[in-house]
Amino acid sequence: MSLGTVLVVDDEHKQLEILKIILTREGYEVETSANGEEALQLLRSSPPQVLLTDLKMPGMDGIALLEEALREAPTCSAVVMTAHGTVDTAVEAMKKGAFDYLTKPLDRERLLLVLERAMETVRLRGENRRLRAQLHDRFHLDNIVGDHGTMQDVVRLVEKVAPSLATVLIYGESGTGKELIARALHYNSPRASHPFLAVNCSAVPEPLLESEFFGHEKGSFTGAIARKLGLFEQASGGTLFLDEVGELPLAMQAKLLRALQEKEIRRVGGNSSVLVDARIVAATNRDLTLQMKAGKFREDLYYRLNVFPIFLPALRERATDIPSLVEYFLTRLAREAKKPMLRVAPETLALLLRYRWPGNVRQLESALERAFLLAEGDTLMPELLPAEIRENLPGPAGAFQELDIPDEGISLEGLERELLEKAVRKAGGTLTRAAKLLGISYRTLQYRLEKFGIAREGRPAPSGEADAPIGAGEPGVGS
Ligand SMILES: Nc1ncnc2c1ncn2[C@@H]1O[C@H](COP(=O)(O)OP(=O)(O)OP(=O)(O)O)[C@@H](O)[C@H]1O
Ligand SMILES: [Mg+2]
Repeated sequence: MSLGTVLVVDDEHKQLEILKIILTREGYEVETSANGEEALQLLRSSPPQVLLTDLKMPGMDGIALLEEALREAPTCSAVVMTAHGTVDTAVEAMKKGAFDYLTKPLDRERLLLVLERAMETVRLRGENRRLRAQLHDRFHLDNIVGDHGTMQDVVRLVEKVAPSLATVLIYGESGTGKELIARALHYNSPRASHPFLAVNCSAVPEPLLESEFFGHEKGSFTGAIARKLGLFEQASGGTLFLDEVGELPLAMQAKLLRALQEKEIRRVGGNSSVLVDARIVAATNRDLTLQMKAGKFREDLYYRLNVFPIFLPALRERATDIPSLVEYFLTRLAREAKKPMLRVAPETLALLLRYRWPGNVRQLESALERAFLLAEGDTLMPELLPAEIRENLPGPAGAFQELDIPDEGISLEGLERELLEKAVRKAGGTLTRAAKLLGISYRTLQYRLEKFGIAREGRPAPSGEADAPIGAGEPGVGS
């Protein structure tokens, strides 16, 4: 196997011959050229990984060739050769983007070492580009699968707010794609080349939260043996994703609020403040307004975070998207495993369509991964699905399946009121959406809200939707 391609340029034919022999023997694929113009032609038709060129040549000299070459083939690494005593031109070449220089007469060991390093950087650069492209592809908006109106709304919102750097709060049950949306916001923003950091607020033990978020100075507590930068500083210039933000203890909520308001933080044990510039995207699978009422979530923090709410529908609310999600995941699995795509038996699809998906898209994805691994034929048969899906067992999040009427009875009116309030909140105060959630008309909803006197409890609509937000005077988009 070849170690890589090298184009050697030198006006001394003997030198060219020697280099060709040495490098070919080492395992490189070598092309040679005795002048700059011709080298440039060669380079255009098949760019080498490394260009090894003499600096002093009649006609187009090495510096000019280097500049042209890096413009034509920006992925290539250039190494220049210069006669002993003319190192200043080599320095000029380095400034123009050369990877390294060699002095003549050439030392064989050093030549091979420099070439090996040049090849390595070319490879790494290529890999980085590939990884970046992959990340970009993966979080490209086209990869958020969903034709259902609610998902289309979500994608439009993401498109609209991603570039704005506004704080976004994502609501959704477990597995609905909250992190996917958070990453899409980041990778479709001007911050895409800066870090995206995610922290699950419920997974960090309370005593460590402050240091995790804001970092600490050396010696600020036992065990703080060195200064450590917190997530806010690490994510500066990029995006910090605060997952399960509803689980933050109240004391930490106050500190988070301060960081968001002042845009500066103080490391634990530190005396001075540090400016931070991290875009905040938060997510929760809880109803924060209920948490607020229960005194478990600060109202001021809620309004800071809720600048741009995005509501992710549960999979069962957009079951029409199941076929395209199935196709999307099966295509990806087949591509990754370099295996043919599985066909989906009609009975299998029927089972997938009627299931309630308490674990939402994540559950669908893992059910398909499992089926893909178990499949022996070319068809996804129902037997390959986990038992709870085959037998359509109610999931833990099945809202009403467990609802029983207690012995002391139940207040239908109270229940209706509660459901109305929940729907309005879930819809972000947008009545058309709340009506859709409840399966009633806009007018019926309005009538009932008035009847219960709860019309002012909603929140402003997250985007310019048809009906006016109720609950005027509260902070909304762009405020
Ligand atoms: N609309 C979608 N299109 C394609 N893939 C999706 C979609 N929604 C979710 N997924 C995939 O489903 C899986 C779960 O999504 P994600 O981790 O974003 O959910 P989550 O809401 O953060 O879940 P949890 O609450 O469990 O943390 C991921 O692999 C994600 O890529
Ligand atoms: Mg998540």
